[in-house]
Amino acid sequence: YRRMYISEQSNQPVESMSSMATTTILLLLIALPLLAAAASAQLVAQPGCHNRCGNVSVPYPFGIGVGCFRDDGQPGFQLDCNDSGPGRPPRLTVVGYGYHLAALSLEGEARTDLRATRHCYNSTWELVDRVTEYMSVSGTPYLFSSTKNRLVTLGCPSLGYFNDGRGFYVSGCTSVCRPSQYALPGSCTGVGCCQSAIPNGADYWESTLFNFSPGQQDTVVFNTNPTSCRYVFLVETKWFDGQASHNFVNRTDDFTVPLMLDWAVRNVGNCSAARRNATDFACKSAGSRCFDATNGPGYRCSCPKGYDGNPYLDGGCADIDECRRKDEYMCYGECTNTPGNYTCECPPGTSGDAYRESGCRANDKFTLALKIVTGTHTDLGSSRDILHIFHLFLILTYLFYPKISLVLHGNLN
Ligand SMILES: *[C@@H]1O[C@H](CO)[C@@H](O)[C@H](O)[C@H]1NC(C)=O
Ligand SMILES: *[C@@H]1O[C@H](CO)[C@@H](O)[C@H](O)[C@H]1NC(C)=O
Ligand SMILES: *[C@@H]1O[C@H](CO)[C@@H](O)[C@H](O)[C@H]1NC(C)=O
Ligand SMILES: *[C@@H]1O[C@H](CO)[C@@H](O)[C@H](O)[C@H]1NC(C)=O
Ligand SMILES: *[C@@H]1O[C@H](CO)[C@@H](O)[C@H](O)[C@H]1NC(C)=O
Ligand SMILES: *[C@@H]1O[C@H](CO)[C@@H](O)[C@H](O)[C@H]1NC(C)=O
Ligand SMILES: *[C@@H]1O[C@H](CO)[C@@H](O)[C@H](O)[C@H]1NC(C)=O
Repeated sequence: YRRMYISEQSNQPVESMSSMATTTILLLLIALPLLAAAASAQLVAQPGCHNRCGNVSVPYPFGIGVGCFRDDGQPGFQLDCNDSGPGRPPRLTVVGYGYHLAALSLEGEARTDLRATRHCYNSTWELVDRVTEYMSVSGTPYLFSSTKNRLVTLGCPSLGYFNDGRGFYVSGCTSVCRPSQYALPGSCTGVGCCQSAIPNGADYWESTLFNFSPGQQDTVVFNTNPTSCRYVFLVETKWFDGQASHNFVNRTDDFTVPLMLDWAVRNVGNCSAARRNATDFACKSAGSRCFDATNGPGYRCSCPKGYDGNPYLDGGCADIDECRRKDEYMCYGECTNTPGNYTCECPPGTSGDAYRESGCRANDKFTLALKIVTGTHTDLGSSRDILHIFHLFLILTYLFYPKISLVLHGNLN
């Protein structure tokens, strides 16, 4: 199990926790095992480095300042935490590139934002306002995520598309207009707005909006009820689907949208090549696993099964105490944490499968009944225990009141 470090997580610096603990010896004695577990689970950044910027967690190989980030000759892991004025949260930026990161996860994702390319026309259909945006993540650990983003062209009539670094077409779509009284159901399906998937490996965004000028042959089909502004952008699919895209169609403002990036260690093409140089190999924590990137060259690391934390740091992976996460790791008996796993056993006097609810059965009803009588088993809360008391009652009835038992027998049969 690996923990997601995307945005909000209240990771206290390790130093402040240990200084807290020195306040009283008693507290120290009680809390020491807990603190040790918490401290190792919270190894996010290199020791002595900032592990967050505002509420964005900054796990190594990312880092702020000298010695805090992975330096393998590729820019992109070095970040800045820039003050953005009073009352505003600081912004995490990629040094040398200037783009802003709103979230980072050890699962290989990062969220940034992208300003939409925008063309606006006046009432005589002259282009009066334009914003043309480009973005390059070429030569960095980042690539535009093909699974989490989409290209969207908004407004009509328009052909919006994007070019790679060589100027060639990558993806695009055509958005046409339609009389509003014949509006179609659905959103962003080609009328007023269209969307298209993008391929793996895209590291450069340069966009074009192609206008269908009035007076061309298809004017009536495409140009009825045109919008004054047209946009093209890449956007996080999940975010865009959560917006009412019909509210977008008539926009005229300048806006930015969230964009997902896939990151990996990319100075070496894959795990088997990376393992050849132990100093450079990024999977540092003992037992951590390496897997090849699914978008572009490179690799990422993960903690072994049953551990979580940061596999990119020596000692960064810590054992998960499954017994303290009952909601995720089922146990209906006596739970014992083990390195990388846990065991769950039926309570004494019972046997069966304690990983299942009601999986444990009493070994011998009579001895259990005696235990209840003698008070060794006083937890009478569950319906199972009430059943045991009923058994006890029957047993005692048989033993001491043969006549009543006969009557009972007679009634039951
Ligand atoms: C962030 O701050 C650093 C100095 O701390 C500065 O060099 C850099 O240009 C700033 N970046 C942005 C995007 O403002
Ligand atoms: C913290 O992150 C959330 C999104 O995860 C964002 O909505 C919020 O504004 C952030 N707050 C600060 C203070 O950065
Ligand atoms: C539209 O913009 C063009 C070019 O700026 C200008 O010549 C024209 O007068 C404008 N039309 C109106 C109706 O404002
Ligand atoms: C957009 O504006 C046009 C013209 O003002 C209007 O006819 C149309 O209904 C609007 N569309 C939406 C979705 O608001
Ligand atoms: C890994 O990269 C090396 C060097 O680039 C290459 O020779 C090898 O075929 C790659 N292995 C796999 C499994 O892709
Ligand atoms: C291994 O990686 C280190 C650090 O990146 C580098 O200095 C060294 O030259 C590499 N060794 C080989 C044999 O490639
Ligand atoms: C944990 O233990 C269970 C039961 O013994 C076993 O099925 C499972 O594969 C183990 N998991 C790991 C990560 O070793």
